[in-house]
Amino acid sequence: MVVIGTRSLVILRAARPSPFRQRTLIHSSAAACSCLNTCAISEQGPRRVLAVSDLHVDHPENFKWTNKLAATDHRHDVLIVAGDISHNQEKLSQTLQGLTKAFWKVFFVVGNHELWTRAKDDSMVGAEHSPQKMQLIHSLCADLGVLTKPTRLGPVLICPLISWHHQSFDREPDIPGVPRPSPLFVSDYRACTWPEGFPGIGTEELAQWFDAQNEPAEQILDMSHDADVISFSHFLPLQALLPEKRNLFYSGLAKAVGSDFLARRIAELQPSIHLFGHTHFGWDATLDGIRYIQAPLCTPRERLGRLGSIILHHADIPPSRMTRTDGAGHAIPDTDPLAADWLPVTIWRSKQDMSSYPPGGDWQALKHGCMCPPLHARWSDYFQTEPRRPDDLTLAPWVKGVRRQPPAT
Ligand SMILES: [Fe+2]
Ligand SMILES: [Fe+2]
Repeated sequence: MVVIGTRSLVILRAARPSPFRQRTLIHSSAAACSCLNTCAISEQGPRRVLAVSDLHVDHPENFKWTNKLAATDHRHDVLIVAGDISHNQEKLSQTLQGLTKAFWKVFFVVGNHELWTRAKDDSMVGAEHSPQKMQLIHSLCADLGVLTKPTRLGPVLICPLISWHHQSFDREPDIPGVPRPSPLFVSDYRACTWPEGFPGIGTEELAQWFDAQNEPAEQILDMSHDADVISFSHFLPLQALLPEKRNLFYSGLAKAVGSDFLARRIAELQPSIHLFGHTHFGWDATLDGIRYIQAPLCTPRERLGRLGSIILHHADIPPSRMTRTDGAGHAIPDTDPLAADWLPVTIWRSKQDMSSYPPGGDWQALKHGCMCPPLHARWSDYFQTEPRRPDDLTLAPWVKGVRRQPPAT
C-alpha cells in the first residue's frame, strides 16, 4: 500500500469547487506541498552525480534492472531520474524507495506516464485527475526523502524543472497527411484527466500551468551563486533535441514533446548540464553553452530493436568492445541491451573523487567538479556534422509504410 502524506489529501478532497475555485485550490495546495520538500541547502556535496530517465518499470526486465541498481552502494552519490518511472503508484513507490536505499540523494521529476489516470492496472490512491496525482506523487516523494525541488548540495545545485508539452512548441513544417496529436495518436491525450475548467491538453495555457508549479526563478537563481548547476526535466526545451520529422515514425510527436516555458527557465538559469527524457533517444549536445544529455533506459523492446539510437558511450571505450553494429552501420559497444550497463551515466564528479580515482577520457572542469567527457549517441553525433534540415519532408527509409504507428513515449 502506498503511504501518502495526509496533508495534501485533506486539502485536495475538499468539496467540489467551481472551476475558478478549483484552479486556485490546486495552486494553493501545490504551495503547501512545497513546504514538505522545499528548496534546501546542504553543506555536504556529492561524490558523483549519476543520471537516467524513462525507467518504465512496468516492464519486468526494467523492474529487475532498477532493483539491481537499488542493490548497489552509492552512499556518497546522487541519482537524478528524469521522469517516466511508471503510471502505477505502487511500482513508482517501490522503485523510489529502493533507489533511496542505494543513493545518498535521489532527485525525481514527474514525466507524462506518472500523470496517467486511466491506465488499466493503475493503483493510484485517491487522485481524481492528473494535477492532483502530481501533488500526491510529490507528497509521496517527500515521505520517501526523494527530492523534487531545487536543492543545493554543497558546491552543486540540482534543479528539477516541472514541465508539460504544448503543440506550438513545434515550429517546423509538417509531413503532409500526418494527423495532429489526438487520443488516437498520443497516449497522454486519452490517459490523462484534467479538472473542470482546466486548459485543454496541447495548449500553451496547460504548459504554462505546469511551469508555474516550479519555484520562482529568482529563488533558484539565488541558490545558484558559485555553484555547479545541473537542471533536469522530463520534456524537451528545444526542438533541436529531436530528429527532424521525416525521421520519426509518428511525426506528430514533435507537437507532444517540449515546452517553450521550460526553455525560458533554462535560459535564465544557465546550468552547465540539463538532462531530459521522454523521446527515448540517447543524446549529448552542447547548444548555446549548455550541455543537453538524455540517458533513457527505454522499453526492453526498444533496446532490443534499436539499441544504436539509445545507447550512450564515451570515446575512450576500447575498440575491442566496439564490435556491435547499429542499424546505420556504426560501431557501438557490444553490450547486452537488457543489461543496459551503460546506465546510469555519471555526469559530474567532485574534484576530490577525480584525484582519488583518476578517470580516463576528457573530463571537463567546472567551478567545483568536472562534467563527463562527450558522450557518443547516434542522433546527437549525426547532428554534429549534419545541419538540421526540417524543410526536407522526404520520409526516411525506415519510416515509410509505418509512419502512422503511434509513438512509444
Ligand atoms: Fe518514456
Ligand atoms: Fe515521457
